[in-house]
Amino acid sequence: MKMRVKVAQILKGGRTGQQVEVSGWVRTRRDSKQGFSFVELNDGSCLANLQIVIDSNVAGDEATIKHVTTGTSVAVSGELKDSPGKGQRLELHAQSLKVLGLADPDSYPLQKKRHSFEFLRDIAHLRPRTNTFGAIARVRNAVCAAIHNYFQSRGFLYIQTPIITTNDCEGAGELFQVTTLDLVRLAQLETEIDYAQDFFGKPASLTVSGQLEAEIFATSVGDCYTFGPTFRAENSNTTRHLAEFWMVEPEMPFYELVDNLDLAEDFIRTIVRDVRQECTDDLEFFNLRIDKTVIETLDNITENEFVRLSYTEAIGILSNSSRQFEYPIEWGRDLQSEHERYLTEQHFQQPVILYDFPRTIKPFYMRCNDDGKTVRAMDVLVPRVGEIIGGSQREERLDVLTQRMQECDLDPADYWWYVDLRRYGSVPHSGFGLGLERTIQLITGMTNIRDCIPFPRTPKNSEF
Ligand code: 4AD
Ligand code: MG
Repeated sequence: MKMRVKVAQILKGGRTGQQVEVSGWVRTRRDSKQGFSFVELNDGSCLANLQIVIDSNVAGDEATIKHVTTGTSVAVSGELKDSPGKGQRLELHAQSLKVLGLADPDSYPLQKKRHSFEFLRDIAHLRPRTNTFGAIARVRNAVCAAIHNYFQSRGFLYIQTPIITTNDCEGAGELFQVTTLDLVRLAQLETEIDYAQDFFGKPASLTVSGQLEAEIFATSVGDCYTFGPTFRAENSNTTRHLAEFWMVEPEMPFYELVDNLDLAEDFIRTIVRDVRQECTDDLEFFNLRIDKTVIETLDNITENEFVRLSYTEAIGILSNSSRQFEYPIEWGRDLQSEHERYLTEQHFQQPVILYDFPRTIKPFYMRCNDDGKTVRAMDVLVPRVGEIIGGSQREERLDVLTQRMQECDLDPADYWWYVDLRRYGSVPHSGFGLGLERTIQLITGMTNIRDCIPFPRTPKNSEF
């Protein structure tokens, strides 16, 4: 049985006098005049480093310790002792030190100084070794665990929906095509493309949402959710869009719009509360180093009810505000990020749920209201991020759905299985999608979504 103990365990429950072995990467080394060296070791298990005190004769020949520079991996065993220094309870007094892998100080890119996030994006293979990206990885993990916990403890089934699909759920045409056709040869032939020759016999793409398939399971096994990668070929270089992002999409039978709103609000609040408890040190770090309002924003989410208002009311507030917006405000237009953020950050200063949007700006599957103008859509807006959740009650009436599809230039025959759900035992149902990376932005205060996923995919950017 391996003796290795993780730094997180030591700092939490280690005792003076205990013999331990630790392994990790050196953050810094400092040599004292008395012949001691102090090494700050990080193994990623927590934000804090473990201080290691190394006597020059323990290190063997003196040359060894000189090679222990930032980025070097080492295995150390020794005894835990009370630390006289500030900032840590215990330190490790080394009895043996083994260098596992050197890191040439002349070329290792992560030196002690602070690096810009832009610079770190170019070295995404090394950035998890920094405090910030280690903390983001732990928070992201805690958020995913909290999401599964939330649904599992409420009897929702986790359903895996396909990544390759032949439908465009959101109807926005932002699809990444999937093909095995020889594009080079086709370009030379200059003929029409015959999709019958393609792998699936028709145009296929990466999914923009697992919702349509989730509806199949919601109307059979009941409450369920999908949680997986989602792809949108949106050519927008913003701080809140990725070409590949993760989305969690619950879908519930017998839910009307208001039930959907209630679930979304309770869901966000619970996730935030769980992560607040699970990642205390990491969140304090974000609050100190990244954004001084992170914890305040999170507490505001867990302690106060979200504001709910219709799209029409929101348009009223925006048009009466003295703020100059870049994009015009007009009933029937989609809200821009600046409008969403004004509502949640300035006007209400808390999360806002908007509902009942104009049908012309929303996808075919949303339930039509009797006014003939709006659909039962909902968007949850949060400070610093804007839209974090989009969802709706679904159109469960066969005739209205097929009419809406035609209105949206879709052929109901292409969606025959989706339409069938309205033909056989149709029920009112609802669901929503939460963007994982935007949730990480909210919880960590990171301003750019590219820093909230391990390996971001954006226009012209697919390295790693
Ligand atoms: O509002 P959206 O497009 O809704 C849907 O896809 C529905 N089918 C969901 C459902 O009802 N089951 O996307 C949902 C959320 C957004 O609110 C946002 O948080 C995130 O997904 N999102 C993105 N995140 C990062 N990059 C992008 N390009 C995103 N597009 C949407
Ligand atoms: Mg949306």
